[in-house]
Amino acid sequence: MFYEPKKKNHGLSKNPFNSLIVPRPIGWISSVDGKGVFNLAPYSFFNAVCYRPPTVMFSSGVGSGDDKMKDSLRNIEEIGEFVCNLANWETRKQMNQSSASVSPEIDEIDLSNLTTIASEIINAPRIAEAPVHLECRYLKSIDIPTWSDTDVYTMILGEVVGIHIRDDLITETGLVDVAKMLPIGRMGYNDYTRVDANSLFTMDRPK
Ligand SMILES: Cc1cc2nc3c(=O)[nH]c(=O)nc-3n(C[C@H](O)[C@H](O)[C@H](O)COP(=O)(O)O)c2cc1C
Repeated sequence: MFYEPKKKNHGLSKNPFNSLIVPRPIGWISSVDGKGVFNLAPYSFFNAVCYRPPTVMFSSGVGSGDDKMKDSLRNIEEIGEFVCNLANWETRKQMNQSSASVSPEIDEIDLSNLTTIASEIINAPRIAEAPVHLECRYLKSIDIPTWSDTDVYTMILGEVVGIHIRDDLITETGLVDVAKMLPIGRMGYNDYTRVDANSLFTMDRPK
């Protein structure tokens, strides 16, 4: 089949786009607002964009408040910091719970029965239950060109200034044991996948 996204002529029951670029890692973004209220939400339009300096991005769609911003985007643009907690198999339910749309004064970390711990370098909190935390300094926002008022996305770029890895995930040879970490990825619709010992494989690069 072929279709042109702008014409919305795929003829399928659901937009197939996010079932094609899969799996997408889930950045579980914690931030804090100017009054000190913590916020947490998962974002799967999320990825690493380069190695040095380590840099990550995520894209935020339209929020439900008057300013049409999601709380994560508003907090990060105001305070200039955020943490990407990496969601895994053990935290999948809380990750999903934290995507509920609640007003900015509600702390989703409490709501999802999660524990916060202080970051080393920044003021935004980390989620203790997540296996990896990337402390990030906000770099810039990029407004993605759009077709309509309802499909508005802003891409947020952040430099990773501190990285926490759960100690038991480091092997004796100094590698990260990804199979033990059990990261989950977003597929299309409401489907997910997980990386474990059965789904991992290795390929050496050609010389
Ligand atoms: C697995 C998952 C991935 C999501 N990815 C995104 C995303 O990439 N961009 C987005 O705008 N919303 C995404 N959402 C929805 C947000 O998590 C949701 O709108 C949340 O309420 C935003 O919270 P905030 O206003 O506290 O930032 C995702 C939800 C789930 C469950």
